[in-house]
Amino acid sequence: MPPIRTERLVIRLAKAGDAAPVAGLMSKAISVRLASWPLPWTEERMAARIAEWRGIGLPCVVERAGDGALIGWVHALRAREDPDRASMGWWCAEAHQGHGYIREAAAALLPVVFDRLGVSVVEAGAQPDNHASFAVMRALGMKPVGVRTTYAAARGRYEPTLFHEIRRG
Ligand SMILES: CC(C)(COP(=O)(O)OP(=O)(O)OC[C@H]1O[C@@H](n2cnc3c(N)ncnc32)[C@H](O)[C@@H]1OP(=O)(O)O)[C@@H](O)C(=O)NCCC(=O)NCCS
Repeated sequence: MPPIRTERLVIRLAKAGDAAPVAGLMSKAISVRLASWPLPWTEERMAARIAEWRGIGLPCVVERAGDGALIGWVHALRAREDPDRASMGWWCAEAHQGHGYIREAAAALLPVVFDRLGVSVVEAGAQPDNHASFAVMRALGMKPVGVRTTYAAARGRYEPTLFHEIRRG
């Protein structure tokens, strides 16, 4: 996937050398909102994830176009149980939240997900009180499809997750 450029951002596939700087941005406030990014989120864990996820989707870092600052992370992965479906996820470094960066990054990645993964449906899910993440989903044109219980490996328990999705076209 060639890098995607938006007005303020560059979204590009993560590579091995991104493991340390991306891991360094993970914090408790971010981790508690994510199902599978437990603390301590180490360079080794990040490197393993980048390698694994490059095989099943588009794991991407988000950088600011002006100064190259690392802003956060956006990914899309083909669903194991349904190859016609992909799931997206995202997080933004605490210092950069509230500027609409991830909204911009995810919106730019979405059409590429449909094209490159060839899926018919893209979904995203979040804890039912994660209003910032639902704002991103709405901005992508995703609509709520209901709550499912999902396993949060980060906390070793099942949690309710409110899913949104959008269909190709
Ligand atoms: C969800 C997240 C990626 C949104 O990224 P972002 O670039 O900050 O998104 P935006 O700036 O477009 O903000 C989205 C909404 O959340 C609000 N918001 C974002 N950061 C906020 C903060 N730190 N405090 C309060 N509100 C915040 C914005 O006001 C906006 O709401 P609005 O549309 O009603 O105005 C980011 O908040 C984050 O990384 N959170 C922790 C990890 C997480 O929840 N990931 C998603 C798991 S499903």
